[in-house]
Amino acid sequence: MATALITGGTSGIGAAFARAFAAGGDDLVLVARDADRLAETATQLKERYGIAVETLSADLAVREDVLRVAERIASSEQPIDTLVNNAGFGIRAKLLAEDPAPHEHGVDVMIRAVLILAGAAGRAMRDRGRGTIINVSSTAGFLTMGSYSATKAYVTVYTESLANELAGTDVKVTALLPGWVQTEFHQRASIRTGAIPSVLWLNADDLVAACLTDAAAGKVISLPSVRYRLIFGIIRHLPRATVRAISRRITSSRH
Ligand SMILES: NC(=O)c1ccc[n+]([C@@H]2O[C@H](COP(=O)([O-])OP(=O)(O)OC[C@H]3O[C@@H](n4cnc5c(N)ncnc54)[C@H](OP(=O)(O)O)[C@@H]3O)[C@@H](O)[C@H]2O)c1
Repeated sequence: MATALITGGTSGIGAAFARAFAAGGDDLVLVARDADRLAETATQLKERYGIAVETLSADLAVREDVLRVAERIASSEQPIDTLVNNAGFGIRAKLLAEDPAPHEHGVDVMIRAVLILAGAAGRAMRDRGRGTIINVSSTAGFLTMGSYSATKAYVTVYTESLANELAGTDVKVTALLPGWVQTEFHQRASIRTGAIPSVLWLNADDLVAACLTDAAAGKVISLPSVRYRLIFGIIRHLPRATVRAISRRITSSRH
């Protein structure tokens, strides 16, 4: 019986990961801040799939909470077979805003927590000789849309480096790079989505199914959907000045 731990497993992409693992018969450990929503999600998954679900209410912006989750990941009595570092949010604040708090919040949850939790999982899985780590990054990491792009560029490069460090072991490491996905993400960050063409919206369950296929095949970068592979196949070869110009246009359409 395998167990997957998913941060941000109560909503959007994280909830889709939870459903996918549960449908395959895996037990779950779900991590998020909202304890009521965690309990409700756990009850639904247990009833629907007949699996065991543990919940850890933790704010991943708080270092002590992150260390508590890392301790759970490192447990040898109740091993975690798959870690999904998924919790995250949009950062709308300007880089020159007087208050750096939104940027620091993003760095804490989407960089520091990812680093600490994947490190704990990587050591435990290397010692056990198997396991899978999935870090949810973003195609935004190829663009230049403020702190959010910068944090996701970190997540992608960090994941590739971790895969190098774990090369030769049976621990698989994958960065998932979604495009636009229908979740609570945009509403939570007050990001306007009216200008996004409907053809570019991805479904969270389809995205996760593609990611799990890529992770099982040992792919370090998972960029689901042909249309996003085409778009970013082109964008990655454009001059950076052109990438910055495209990023400025996207950013101004969202505020
Ligand atoms: N949606 C997209 O278009 C898109 C595109 C590319 C990448 N992504 C990435 O996908 C990941 C998931 O996003 P989503 O779209 O599924 O968003 P979502 O629907 O808003 O879900 C976010 C999840 O993260 C949890 N969370 C947020 N802050 C947290 C914190 N400080 N500590 C612990 N848990 C926290 C939330 O639960 P609580 O509020 O209860 O804590 C929730 O379960 C993020 O890393 C995001 O950057 C999303």
